[in-house]
Amino acid sequence: MRGALTIGVRAARKAGDLIVRRLEQVQSIPIDSKGRNDFVTEVDRQAEAVIIEIIRRTYPGHGFLAEESGLHSGDEHQWIIDPLDGTTNFLHGFPQFAVSIALRIKGRIEDALVYDPLRQELFTASRGRGATLNERRIRVSRQRSLDGALLGTGFPFRSLDHLEEYLAMFRALFPVAAGIRRAGAASLDLAYVACGRLDGFWEFGLKPWDIAAGALMIKEAGGIITDMDGSDCYLESGNVVAGNPKIVKTLCAKLGTRGRPR
Ligand code: IPD
Ligand code: CA
Ligand code: CA
Repeated sequence: MRGALTIGVRAARKAGDLIVRRLEQVQSIPIDSKGRNDFVTEVDRQAEAVIIEIIRRTYPGHGFLAEESGLHSGDEHQWIIDPLDGTTNFLHGFPQFAVSIALRIKGRIEDALVYDPLRQELFTASRGRGATLNERRIRVSRQRSLDGALLGTGFPFRSLDHLEEYLAMFRALFPVAAGIRRAGAASLDLAYVACGRLDGFWEFGLKPWDIAAGALMIKEAGGIITDMDGSDCYLESGNVVAGNPKIVKTLCAKLGTRGRPR
């Protein structure tokens, strides 16, 4: 494992321990709202602070783009952090959430990890070196068509503006796929695509910290991640389609004709 990734993993495990400890008293954790259906707790903030502190100890000059505390300027290294992806699940004791960390150097994602602290599953990737789950090499699925495919998705729950667009996409895929799952933590959904548990995934309106780590993982596992129109601006637009090359092509054909949500 590259040195920087080792530090990221240390930080993610520490944050994961904190999250799991706090899950026991989840009923008493005060919840703030950042917007409609957009919640944040002191656990999100504490986990983020722990991650940044650990990384800073080794790399004092690096910058951060972190969900709860925003942009911290630094040198050409930028850590992109979602300290608790799946906050709504966490608040309900629904066991699907993760810590997601990626390292971008001079604009390119070089290292990534997604850590599920309940299952103790650690997904990692480094550019050009492949992707792993608990240190074993992972690959995207070999599924060739939507017939029989298990897809993941995320609902546009924060704003109802895109509901109709989303439902049109859902309607296009629902009759052809074997199943569609909405698990509630986008970084883990992408990691599941990387290891072949999901054959494909689509969601729009995501943020860079939801996507950055999972995107590298999918690419290093032989898959593809694109914007809904087939471009690679997904980190900026927040709209993603992912899977093996064959599945992504079919998904884009089905979704693309419905326009590109903004
Ligand atoms: C959310 C989760 C969810 C996705 C949302 C994200 P958060 O992240 O990844 O699956 O549908 O768009 O914002 O707010 O729990 O970190
Ligand atoms: Ca998130
Ligand atoms: Ca989060």
